[in-house]
Order: sequence, then structure tokens, then C-alpha cells
Amino acid sequence: MANDFVSVWEIYGLNLDPFSTAPILVKGNLIPPEVFTGRINELKRLEKLFGSSGGSRSIVFGTQGVGKTTLVNIARINALEHNFFTPYQEIKVDINWSVDDFIVNTLSAIYSTLIKKPKQNEEYSKIISKLKLLFDLYEKREQGGSFEVGVLGTSIGAGLTKNTLINKPLISTTYLEELFKETVDSILNLGFREIIIHYNNLDNFDEEEEKIKILFNGVRDFTQTPFVHFVFIGSPTTASIITSIPRVSNIFNDTPMQLEPLSLPEIKKTICSRVKVSAIEGLKYFNPVTDESIETLYSLHNGNIRAIFNALSIAIREVTEEKPVSLTNELLKSVLYKIAKKRFIDKTTHTLKEVLIEMLHQEESSNKTISRSLDKQPQNVSKYLKDLKELQCIYLTRIESKEKYYAVSEGVKWLLLTDGEIDEEQDINAKQTTLKQH
Ligand SMILES: Nc1ncnc2c1ncn2[C@@H]1O[C@H](COP(=O)(O)OP(=O)(O)OP(=O)(O)O)[C@@H](O)[C@H]1O
Ligand SMILES: [Mg+2]
Repeated sequence: MANDFVSVWEIYGLNLDPFSTAPILVKGNLIPPEVFTGRINELKRLEKLFGSSGGSRSIVFGTQGVGKTTLVNIARINALEHNFFTPYQEIKVDINWSVDDFIVNTLSAIYSTLIKKPKQNEEYSKIISKLKLLFDLYEKREQGGSFEVGVLGTSIGAGLTKNTLINKPLISTTYLEELFKETVDSILNLGFREIIIHYNNLDNFDEEEEKIKILFNGVRDFTQTPFVHFVFIGSPTTASIITSIPRVSNIFNDTPMQLEPLSLPEIKKTICSRVKVSAIEGLKYFNPVTDESIETLYSLHNGNIRAIFNALSIAIREVTEEKPVSLTNELLKSVLYKIAKKRFIDKTTHTLKEVLIEMLHQEESSNKTISRSLDKQPQNVSKYLKDLKELQCIYLTRIESKEKYYAVSEGVKWLLLTDGEIDEEQDINAKQTTLKQH
């Protein structure tokens, strides 16, 4: 590019990357929630659950990047309009949390949101000072276990700094549970209808089944606090682990909600609206994406919206020089293939490459399926799988009867965008098609 400091997106008349893969947030979005598409039945199901007063526990699950966080955030945005209270930030559950960590981080997320609301009555001041006291106490402790800094870090300005290490207190779980109940009562007394709490990323636990079982057994009573809706997000494996815990499975109000990929027309619609809302006001803008390239990516990534956005963003940045470019199918394929080859093939050994290519052709692979089809020793395959995982070429999809199943990362699938052998050198003949202006 003639001037590397000119944003690629400006060339298209856009303010920012319309294909950012960040989820839609409850507050502080760059791309407005209006771009949310589809999921009517899922939203209805969640909203009915929140509407049925008294509190609830539910699980939303699906593959990586399918739209889980965004769905629950949209349901929470809608609930805000119906006078619910919800911490703005979803809570990222950490793999090493104890029951106390879990409760304190929930309180912390509530506190961070409460202090952003305009000052209210005496009830408000009472609960704010009570929670502040708890966090101050934690802060003063000497070394010990730490609590999730991301959530607590948002309390800056209320006595906590971004890097504050919050140490384990001598406060009991019962005390924390009581404090949570009091906090809930105060929030209801402030006039809110009920409370929704969103716990994200439970899939971090998928390889630590025992840890998730211990944590869920521990927080079982806490999650039954009346008037609070607890929503847990995870992968298919997370959902099956949680529902297999005997004392825990029966506290959930419904069967886990599985999220399927959006349809092709829904993806096309959301891409159009994302480009539109990213346009610089008063300027003409160009949409670089063609229908045929969306179709190619939709089928390559099995409709995974995050993977489709990521591929579009990378491809457009790669092909754009000084003028807007139309991302034809031909151009998309050659650019993504070249990137994947450089990232994943040129850097791996011959055997790893052989295993990776085999995995690309199997929908889901395990040690068994690979050792069988490549005629290799299972102990060697274990090592290859470990190496490929470290290189982020593959990821764990599920564990069944102790057998681990893997899929190739979405970016590795770009290697399939070639008409010849994977190793073949390809040229990018960027055809700069004239673009339609909007
Ligand atoms: N229904 C939708 N309409 C429009 N955009 C969506 C929709 N669902 C998800 N997205 C967008 O797709 C991307 C992935 O969504 P999100 O982060 O919610 O997925 P996820 O399943 O939570 O991913 P992860 O498994 O990594 O946590 C985000 O950029 C988000 O804005
Ligand atoms: Mg998510």
C-alpha cells in the first residue's frame, strides 16, 4: 500500500472493519446491535424463561464462534428494556475458580454495573458500601489465590486498579451467599424486575471434567437464589458434562439450548447490514463482498459466522492496495489458500503436514481414526496431535468414552480452496473489478 497508515476500510468508505469478530455487547458496541439477524425462536425461548418470574438456570451451547455470546447479550439488551438488571459484562469463568471465587466475581460484575447507574436512594448507597467493603477487604489480603481481574478490573475508580490482585479472604461461603441474597434484595428494592447473570466460556473446562463437576456441585445452592436467572454458555461437551452431574442436572429449567449456524440468507443479510452501518457518514461506500464469495465461505466453514467474518476481513485486507477491490470467488480462494499455506504448511514437518491433510478430509478425527487411516502407531499420533494443537492447527471438539475428538481450525480449511494438490504454488491475479457504489 502506498501509505500503510491509511485504513484499508477508509478506501471502501468505511469507518472500521465491518467484519470484526467481536461479539455484540450489552454496552459499548462499535457495531450496533441492529445488525443482529435471525435466532427468533432462540430469543423467544430465552425471553420466556426470563419472563417466568422466580429465577432460572439454563445452558446455551454450540460450536466455537457460532454466536452464543451474542445471542445471550441480545436477549439481555431486550431484557434491559423490560426493567431487568443485568451486569453489562458477561462473566468469564476461570478454570481454577473455587466456589467463593465464583460468588465474588458475580458480586463484582454486579457492583461494576451498579456504580455506573445514576446515584439512587439510601438502599443503593447501602449496598454499594457493603460490596465496596468486601472488595477492599480482598484487596488488603496478602498473597493467595487471585480472582478474575477482567471483571474486577472494570471497577476502576471505585478503589480497585486494573492490575489489582484480589486475594482469598477469610470470609466464608455462607457469608458470601448471604451477601449475594442481600444484594439481590436491594436491586429488587431499587425497582428492578429480576436479575440475569451471564457466565461465558465454560468450554474452558472441557478437558477438566472433574473441575467442572466440583464447581457446579459447589455453586448448586447459590444458583438457586430466587429472582436470579443464571445463563451458562459452553460447548456441546460442556453441556453434556453439566447435565451428567446428578445433583446438578435437575436444577436446570429446560434442556440445554443448542445453537445451529445461521442460514446462508441470514449471513448475507448480516454482512450487508454490517457494511452499511460501518459507512462513513455522508460518503459513498463500496461493499467489497460478492455473493459468490460468501457462498464459498459458507460451505467451507459450515455456516460458522465467526470464521466467515474472519476470512472476509483477512482476504480484503490482503488484496486491497490503493483502490477498492471486489472480492470475487477466484480472488478469495487464491488469497486465502496462499495465507493458509504460508501459516500452516510451510512451517510444519512432512509428517505433521500428512496428518493435518488427513484431518482436513475427516469431518472429526481422533487418535483412532488417524492411526487407522495413516497406518501409524497410536503413541506417535498422540504426539502429532499435541504438536498440531500447540500450533493451533486443530482444536478439541468433544470427549466421548475418554476418546478425544478434534477438528481442524477454520483457517486451516482455506487449504481446501485449491483446485490442485495442497502443496502447489498459486498465483494471486488480483482482478480489480469495477465496484458498484452505494
Ligand atoms: N445472530 C447474529 N447476527 C449477526 N451477527 C452475529 C450473530 N451471531 C453472532 N454474530 C457475530 O458473529 C461473531 C461470533 O459471535 P459470538 O462471539 O457471539 O460467538 P460465540 O459462539 O460466543 O463464540 P465463542 O465460541 O468463541 O465464544 C461476532 O462477530 C458476532 O457479532
Ligand atoms: Mg462467546
